Amino acid sequence: MNIVITGANRGLGLGLVAHYLAQGHELWACARNPCEVTAWDALASSSLHPVRWDVADDAPPQCMGSCTWPSAIHVLINNAGIYGPVGTGQSLQNVSSKCMLDVFNVDAIGPLRVVQHLLPALREGDATVANIASKMGSISDNSSGGNYAYRAAKTALMMVSKSMAVDLADSGIHVITLHPGWVKTDMTDHHGLINVATSVQGMSNVISRACDYLPGDFIAFDGTLIGF
Ligand SMILES: NC(=O)c1ccc[n+]([C@@H]2O[C@H](COP(=O)([O-])OP(=O)(O)OC[C@H]3O[C@@H](n4cnc5c(N)ncnc54)[C@H](OP(=O)(O)O)[C@@H]3O)[C@@H](O)[C@H]2O)c1
Repeated sequence: MNIVITGANRGLGLGLVAHYLAQGHELWACARNPCEVTAWDALASSSLHPVRWDVADDAPPQCMGSCTWPSAIHVLINNAGIYGPVGTGQSLQNVSSKCMLDVFNVDAIGPLRVVQHLLPALREGDATVANIASKMGSISDNSSGGNYAYRAAKTALMMVSKSMAVDLADSGIHVITLHPGWVKTDMTDHHGLINVATSVQGMSNVISRACDYLPGDFIAFDGTLIGF
């Protein structure tokens, strides 16, 4: 399969790249600074196609070296994301409009930009599109408040993802929204309940049977449905 992953240079994105390469797939690995990703050197795979892509920017992505886009994409994982300020930086008292807009730009608009750009190849591949949101974006699950920018941006992503799912269902593109679990990565300062390998294995299982779910469903890495 031809697979595109954003934010592919570290954390869950890097884990997803390694996982799918090990399964023999062709991987378009997107990062803001692909030339500096030493982690990809260790994977030493001719099936890894590096792409420069800052999803916060309307500028089109740039395939590096001899890499070109495939005519058909079978899986797109919109993984790139930011948390924004930590600690009290996103409290009711402290969160700034700039912080709200910056996080929204990456986490909610980023996946929309990516899908808009890749749409013809996604149609050609009858693709599965997996947008990685977070349970922190679930309104029904929010009992602790705070975290305004991250929560609101991920809630918006869930709505973007649902609209995409509805709009694209007739063209053979299946869109789902994923929660990777609470995973030990840079984003969580390496706190969490599970490691990258567990989350990646779980999400890839869900993606492989995405059609068992309704378009736009919000699904955890272990396959359970999450309420919006
Ligand atoms: N870890 C968790 O517990 C958890 C829980 C729920 C949801 N998630 C979501 O899972 C996804 C991956 O998270 P993670 O834990 O792997 O985080 P991470 O370790 O902080 O990695 C984030 C990735 O996103 C990339 N990125 C950030 N801004 C970007 C931009 N403007 N354009 C392109 N790439 C950009 C980063 O690239 P740079 O190196 O260039 O910054 C990095 O590759 C995120 O969407 C996150 O919100 C994570």
